[in-house]
Amino acid sequence: MSDQMTYWTASAPPPEFPQLRQHEDADYAIVGGGIVGLTLACLLAEQGQQVVVLEGNRVLHGTTGHSTAKVTVQHDLIYSELAAHFNIENARLYYETQDAALQFMRRTAAAMPGGCEWSDEDAYLYASSASATTKLMKEFETYQQLGMPGQWLEEVPLPGLAASALKLPGQAQFHPVRYLNGLIARIVQAGGRIYEQTRIDAKLEHRGGRPLIRALHGPEITARQVIACSQYPFYDGGGFYFARMHPAHSYIMAVQPEQPFPGGMYLSVDEPKRSLRAVTIDGQPMVLVAGESHQTGQGDPASVHFANLERFATQTLGVRQIPYRWSAQDWQTLDKLPYIGPLSPGHPDVWVATGLRKWGMTGGTAAALLLRDLLLGVENRYATLVTPARFGIDPDLKALVKENADVAKHLLAGKLTFPDRDPGHLRRQEGAAVVLAGKRAGAYRDAGGQLHLVDTTCTHMGCECAWNDGARTWDCPCHGSRFDADGQVLSGPAVKPLRRLLPGGEPADATPVTFT
Ligand code: FES
Repeated sequence: MSDQMTYWTASAPPPEFPQLRQHEDADYAIVGGGIVGLTLACLLAEQGQQVVVLEGNRVLHGTTGHSTAKVTVQHDLIYSELAAHFNIENARLYYETQDAALQFMRRTAAAMPGGCEWSDEDAYLYASSASATTKLMKEFETYQQLGMPGQWLEEVPLPGLAASALKLPGQAQFHPVRYLNGLIARIVQAGGRIYEQTRIDAKLEHRGGRPLIRALHGPEITARQVIACSQYPFYDGGGFYFARMHPAHSYIMAVQPEQPFPGGMYLSVDEPKRSLRAVTIDGQPMVLVAGESHQTGQGDPASVHFANLERFATQTLGVRQIPYRWSAQDWQTLDKLPYIGPLSPGHPDVWVATGLRKWGMTGGTAAALLLRDLLLGVENRYATLVTPARFGIDPDLKALVKENADVAKHLLAGKLTFPDRDPGHLRRQEGAAVVLAGKRAGAYRDAGGQLHLVDTTCTHMGCECAWNDGARTWDCPCHGSRFDADGQVLSGPAVKPLRRLLPGGEPADATPVTFT
């Protein structure tokens, strides 16, 4: 994720932690400082376990700090889809697990000194077109089968929208960074150690029978168990995660509306998706308007997506001002269930939680609760449903083939499409693929007029990265790695930075280089 300022990180900056400077040893090494890693670290540390959290950038500056922060079990049309793809019992298990996570968060928030802006809300899925309404009715029928307290409404209580809705009472919204800052305090209090700017190399070794991982800048970490809680696992371990997940990018803006917002949390079934929830910023009632999801590194520039959201907000609520805009990246799996459990066969001491789609608040908490149980040897019924090994049991081969065909297409497209821009013609704060010494390169001219040049070949598997003009990042269309304007990794699977280039096109040395 880029270091875009989101309302969450701007209004409650997380505490800062040092970079790892010495070798570490712990019971559990947790890679990733978002909601999964920090919730798990808190659960384990408060059970007396030695925990180390290793974050490649800053804690809570990834997807968690870029979320819309809805705490709901209403995950789009998931229940009818799970019932159709698996069976009604698996849909029930998913519901019960997400609901248990919601209740855990509600209890945790209630006990939090200073609070976390928790507010109980009704959640609404709404549909306008005939086909979306048919899908929504199917979801309602599945709610009834599951005994979920859903209600069918002929009108969604949003001004300016003609749509029927499926209401689910008893859900919530909150301030995710305040909530997790509370958990960070508890981790530190319980003796847990947190390190930032500590990106882990994509390798796993063993020493004395314990897994050993290494920070890119040198220090080693040994542990009884290693848990990959970053969005994308730092180590693939033969799990083929790159082939069975894809990253999606979406956009969020905080809007001061002209019309009063009725409360509640909303998500459209129709495409393009629209999501709304209230938030109070500097004492002013505002609405987070989100949507425009697309595969990372593909499609229109961010400015187009923000303009589409603004048009929707203007039609629905009226817009006085938009104080915040940011984007988020989520990972989608083949069957819409996350991968939580042992990383891959043959790696009993490495665990993973990934593929939470856009439901990382309850989904991330459920993942942490499950991992806590798995690590401490407690039975948990959710484990079989979300085990990464289910791929071998129930491969959705068609989707996998399509996923890999898409990767191949973008790998090729990036190589065959030659840019026609000259870096000298870039305006301030503009980035693009350019021609540099007869070769493709990436260039960004910053606000001060400095030019930042990189080789856009992704260091993961060689696809060509595209410029994201919203987050000002280089995004890979194949598996979603993201790099800043100087090529530093913001999110994997890549762990190595893009090569920086000199104005003549030759590689720069290790020192950051900028040009006018
Ligand atoms: Fe896989 Fe870029 S993320 S090639």
